Amino acid sequence: MLILKSRQELTDFVQSIRAKRLTIGFVPTMGALHEGHLFLIKKAIEENQYTLCSIFVNPTQFNNSADLEKYPRTEETDIKKLESAGCDAVYLPKVEDMYPSGFENDPIDLGGLDSVMEGAFRPGHFQGMATVVKRLLLQTQPTKAYFGEKDFQQLQIIRQMVRNEKLPVEIIGVPIVREESGLAMSSRNMRLSPEFKERSVFIYHTLLKAKELSSQLSPQQIISEVEKIYSNSDFKLEYFTIAEEKTLQTHDKFEENSRYRAFVAAFAGEIRLIDNIQIR
Ligand code: PAJ
Repeated sequence: MLILKSRQELTDFVQSIRAKRLTIGFVPTMGALHEGHLFLIKKAIEENQYTLCSIFVNPTQFNNSADLEKYPRTEETDIKKLESAGCDAVYLPKVEDMYPSGFENDPIDLGGLDSVMEGAFRPGHFQGMATVVKRLLLQTQPTKAYFGEKDFQQLQIIRQMVRNEKLPVEIIGVPIVREESGLAMSSRNMRLSPEFKERSVFIYHTLLKAKELSSQLSPQQIISEVEKIYSNSDFKLEYFTIAEEKTLQTHDKFEENSRYRAFVAAFAGEIRLIDNIQIR
């Protein structure tokens, strides 16, 4: 596997592949790779002639400097995992490669999709995320880029950005990979105490409960039921909501021809976890 340590090395790699008119599947990550990330790599390998992964812990999408500092960095094992997964190249940009003129965000219209859920609780997060993803897409020029439904709001925002900015790439959404218990895989799970790791499947169970209730109750009634369940638990709920997939807006009632998801952010001790499930 090629290890591309600078923007110049990446550009040379991309040009050689583009010259041969071969397809590139791109998987951007922040490292601390787990089976969820590797599932995106697997999809990219299946659908493209070359698979490129990037690892960059993007400072502008962290709205809390302690969270940025504590973000797990496991580069050596990440590289080994990518190599055994069959990835062709990994791009490890330096801060200057992504932010040559300081940590300013690009003005990207996110169409209001960034004002709800994660956007409401993490101000500036999606502008920072969109800036780095746009820059990565421009640098890597992939045929297809892969994003997990684990971060469903992020996926929808990227789709919107790619449409608005007319970027020549196909965005592929990939289903959530879960632990056997049902807990959604996340780099943050590494920071859970063993006890909380075992109990955090609770979050998935509340999503399943919402799905079950969706045959009888309205979105708002389901939200109230689930909020009650959280208030009697050890998990501190930040939000639990049910939104239509395209607009990410909450509806008073379920419309026949729309798809809905339940979304949750909750603290397991100090660790903030997010998850979602399609309910209708
Ligand atoms: P990161 O959290 O490292 O995630 C990289 C990709 O892996 C994202 O598309 C995410 O949705 C996907 N992913 C994470 N856990 C998953 C799981 N359990 N199942 C399926 N996919 C999963 O998301 C980011 O990094 C950053 O915001 C990034 C897009 C790289 C921009 O900095």
